[in-house]
Amino acid sequence: MSENNGQMIALVTGANKGIGFEVARQLARRGDTVLLAARNEERGREAEAKLKAEGFDVHFVHLDVEDAETHQTAAKFVGEKFDRLDVLVNNAGIALDAGSKASNVSPDVLRKTFDTNLFGVIAVTQAFLPLLKKSDDGRIVNVSSGLGSLTQHSDPTWEFYGVKPLAYNASKTALNAFTVMLAHELKETKIKVNSADPGFTATDLNGHSGYRTVEQGATVIVELASLPSDGTTGGYFDENGVVPW
Ligand SMILES: NC(=O)c1ccc[n+]([C@@H]2O[C@H](COP(=O)([O-])OP(=O)(O)OC[C@H]3O[C@@H](n4cnc5c(N)ncnc54)[C@H](OP(=O)(O)O)[C@@H]3O)[C@@H](O)[C@H]2O)c1
Repeated sequence: MSENNGQMIALVTGANKGIGFEVARQLARRGDTVLLAARNEERGREAEAKLKAEGFDVHFVHLDVEDAETHQTAAKFVGEKFDRLDVLVNNAGIALDAGSKASNVSPDVLRKTFDTNLFGVIAVTQAFLPLLKKSDDGRIVNVSSGLGSLTQHSDPTWEFYGVKPLAYNASKTALNAFTVMLAHELKETKIKVNSADPGFTATDLNGHSGYRTVEQGATVIVELASLPSDGTTGGYFDENGVVPW
C-alpha cells in the first residue's frame, strides 16, 4: 500500500485509446484520480466521458508529447488542482516504420519516431518531475516494448527476432536508457522509474494484429504504477518478470 493511503493522482499520456485508455481505466478502478492526457481534445473528451460513465474519477488533460507548451500548461493545471503527481505513465507512442529496414528507413521517420517515443517522453517527464517529487510515493512507468531489447534482438530463437524496424525499436532501446539514467538519478528519492513491455497487443498501432488484449497489455504497466515503497526501480519488465536489456 502506498503512503498516500491509496488515493493517488495518476496521469497517463496517449490515454484516449488502446493500452493507455485501458491503463487509465485500471488505475481509476483501483481508486486513483486519473488525468487522461490526450493530444486531441475531442478524442480525449470522448474517452473521459466513457470512463466517467463507468463511475470513475477521470479528468481530460490536453497534452501533446511533442508540444512543450502543452506540457507546461498541463503541469500548471495539475499543480494548481492537486499540488502533486503520484504516477506518470509515459504511454503515448508511435510506430511508423513497420516493414522498413535499417538500410532504407528515412531520416524523417527516424526523427519523427524519436521525437514522440523518446524526446517527447523526456520533456514530459521533466515538466512533471517537480510535482512527482512532492508525492510520498512517486512512480514513473515508461511504456517500452520487447522490441527495445537488444539482448532479445540478438537471440535467433526469440519469437520476434525477425521484427527489426530500426526507428521504432531503437526509440524504445533509447527509452530504456532514459529509464536507467533517471532511476539512478532519483534513487535516493521515493520515485521509482521502470520500463514496461505490454506484449504484442491488438491496437491501432499494429492494425490490431497483436494477439493480446489491452487488458492483458495494461497489467504490467499498472503493476509498476502500483509498486510498494520498497519496490524496484530502474528495471524492465513484462508480465512474466524481468526483460533483458
Ligand atoms: N500494441 C502493441 O503491441 C505494443 C507493444 C509494445 C509496446 N507498445 C507501446 O504501447 C504504447 C501504447 O500503444 P498502443 O498499442 O496502445 O497504440 P495506439 O492504440 O496507437 O495508441 C497510441 C496513443 O498514443 C497517442 N499519441 C501518439 N502520438 C502522440 C503525441 N505526440 N502526443 C500525445 N499522444 C500521442 C495516440 O493519440 P491519437 O489517438 O491522437 O493518435 C494514442 O492515444 C506505445 O508506447 C507503444 O509503443 C505497444
